[in-house]
Amino acid sequence: MERCHAFASLIFAWFSLFGCVQAVTLEVTEGNSTCIKAELSASFSIPYDTPSGAKTALVSLPDSATVDAGSSSCGSGGGPSRLVTAFGSGHALGLSFVANGSLYRVANLTLQYNLSDASVFPEANGSGVVAVASSSVGIWAPVNSSYRCVSSSTFAVGDAAVTFWNMRLEAYMPGSDLSPTESVCMADKASTTAPPTTAGTTTAAPPPTPAGKPQQGNYSVTDSNGTVCLLARMGLQLNVSYSSRSQNKTIRALVNVAPNATTPSGSCDATNATLILTGADATTLTLGFTLNATSNKYHLSAITLQADWSDMTAPIRAGNNSLDYMRSSLGRSYMCNAEQTLAVAPTFSLNTFRLQIQPFQVATDRFAAAEECQLDQDHMLIPIVVGAALAGLVLVVLIAYLIGRRRSHAGYQTI
Ligand SMILES: *[C@@H]1O[C@H](CO)[C@@H](O)[C@H](O)[C@H]1NC(C)=O
Ligand SMILES: *[C@@H]1O[C@H](CO)[C@@H](O)[C@H](O)[C@H]1NC(C)=O
Ligand SMILES: *[C@@H]1O[C@H](CO)[C@@H](O)[C@H](O)[C@H]1NC(C)=O
Ligand SMILES: *[C@@H]1O[C@H](CO)[C@@H](O)[C@H](O)[C@H]1NC(C)=O
Ligand SMILES: *[C@@H]1O[C@H](CO)[C@@H](O)[C@H](O)[C@H]1NC(C)=O
Ligand SMILES: *[C@@H]1O[C@H](CO)[C@@H](O)[C@H](O)[C@H]1NC(C)=O
Ligand SMILES: *[C@@H]1O[C@H](CO)[C@@H](O)[C@H](O)[C@H]1NC(C)=O
Ligand SMILES: *[C@@H]1O[C@H](CO)[C@@H](O)[C@H](O)[C@H]1NC(C)=O
Ligand SMILES: *[C@@H]1O[C@H](CO)[C@@H](O)[C@H](O)[C@H]1NC(C)=O
Ligand SMILES: *[C@@H]1O[C@H](CO)[C@@H](O)[C@H](O)[C@H]1NC(C)=O
Ligand SMILES: *[C@@H]1O[C@H](CO)[C@@H](O)[C@H](O)[C@H]1NC(C)=O
Ligand SMILES: *[C@@H]1O[C@H](CO)[C@@H](O)[C@H](O)[C@H]1NC(C)=O
Repeated sequence: MERCHAFASLIFAWFSLFGCVQAVTLEVTEGNSTCIKAELSASFSIPYDTPSGAKTALVSLPDSATVDAGSSSCGSGGGPSRLVTAFGSGHALGLSFVANGSLYRVANLTLQYNLSDASVFPEANGSGVVAVASSSVGIWAPVNSSYRCVSSSTFAVGDAAVTFWNMRLEAYMPGSDLSPTESVCMADKASTTAPPTTAGTTTAAPPPTPAGKPQQGNYSVTDSNGTVCLLARMGLQLNVSYSSRSQNKTIRALVNVAPNATTPSGSCDATNATLILTGADATTLTLGFTLNATSNKYHLSAITLQADWSDMTAPIRAGNNSLDYMRSSLGRSYMCNAEQTLAVAPTFSLNTFRLQIQPFQVATDRFAAAEECQLDQDHMLIPIVVGAALAGLVLVVLIAYLIGRRRSHAGYQTI
């Protein structure tokens, strides 16, 4: 029994670390007919409190996930169509669908997690089941067609984040199999029509180095009211070590985040703001900011990277939720033009270039006055110091010259 439990935790840890690459197939049926079918891979990033501080649990939807028939529904009773899948010890993911005559869409995502499950939430400070829900997500397709999104997409669900990839689904199905007509998501269209820009997207090519300086991208997050609540302008470079397929060894790669192949999303509330950058090849970079309401200071407290590049032998995930970068005051933006290296985990660090970011109290879509980083102030200091030194030197030379002149005048007088 003990060993079985240990083995189960091991499997769960493996899932948590690498994400289960297999897609799970789920079906909601009523009578003999299928109304919702989904094949998908999903992973969850869930923050929680422990006595030693805030932590984040990373969980993947395991192969053993099953449809919770009691909570799922085809909507024949007038309610919404719902697919609920249960996994592990009291965890569940739900997708609610709505349709009008021509289109169906996911109305919201719900996530239920069990803080009492110590294999997922070690040392959790709370216990019992927590339920969170998202507002509308951009998953939709015409009726009688299936939705396909192989690329990864991440959605904020409460303060958790859900990432889907290898997704094919259909609701309000006319038959029992996914309709052959496919509605392909934007991310997939972009990655098939556009040339790969992130070095990570090159197929079976050697790892993406050297990278050069990254382009500066503009990113923003809107809250549920449709107002911009987080603004960022920055160049980002990932410094990540992974096991390379092409080189058959673990390598260190520098990959620039390509702004035009990156989609921002996220969430904001009074004391937490999250920016999620989703790129090609299941690349998701999450930046979490925390506001200390007592001191009215905010800082970058959490960074997580997930990636599944074609050169990787296994997907990677690296994160840290006890960081303290980009300290600034509420009502101000934070700026750093100099290159900054943010150490996150042994396998991952993030380099930032020409950065300005404001995660709280954004008014009228504009950055507030900036507080500049120490590096920039030091850079400003160098010209000042050099200038002062030069001025001093000129003064010394001038004085020496004047004294010299006076001496020589005196010399003439003695003759
Ligand atoms: C389901 O299918 C079985 C066998 O095909 C059939 O006997 C049964 O009547 C069907 N039930 C419904 C509700 O259609
Ligand atoms: C629970 O977490 C909060 C926030 O991290 C902390 O303030 C509190 O002391 C914790 N409670 C216990 C019983 O550890
Ligand atoms: C939550 O997890 C605990 C410990 O694994 C388990 O005893 C409990 O039944 C779970 N709760 C639910 C609702 O499944
Ligand atoms: C269904 O919704 C879409 C998007 O909201 C809209 O463009 C379309 O006209 C609607 N169709 C019907 C029949 O209401
Ligand atoms: C999700 O959407 C469905 C359909 O619009 C609605 O009935 C349900 O209340 C929503 N659930 C949450 C938690 O918002
Ligand atoms: C979808 O297919 C069903 C059965 O093939 C048909 O009755 C229905 O009219 C179709 N709906 C649309 C919007 O094309
Ligand atoms: C993205 O930007 C790069 C560099 O400016 C450019 O070469 C590439 O074509 C752009 N890709 C897209 C999809 O716009
Ligand atoms: C949305 O707007 C209302 C009214 O202006 C405000 O009370 C509420 O706090 C806003 N919600 C968010 C998430 O900003
Ligand atoms: C990438 O990370 C490695 C290991 O921390 C470090 O030695 C190297 O200097 C970093 N490279 C860049 C360009 O940041
Ligand atoms: C990869 O490296 C290992 C040991 O370093 C070697 O045994 C194996 O044959 C190599 N595989 C390939 C495909 O080169
Ligand atoms: C918030 O700031 C106050 C005052 O600087 C400090 O005492 C407190 O520990 C901070 N709280 C957190 C959660 O960092
Ligand atoms: C997270 O960051 C902190 C502060 O930089 C560091 O002390 C800690 O070792 C990091 N944790 C991991 C797992 O890398």
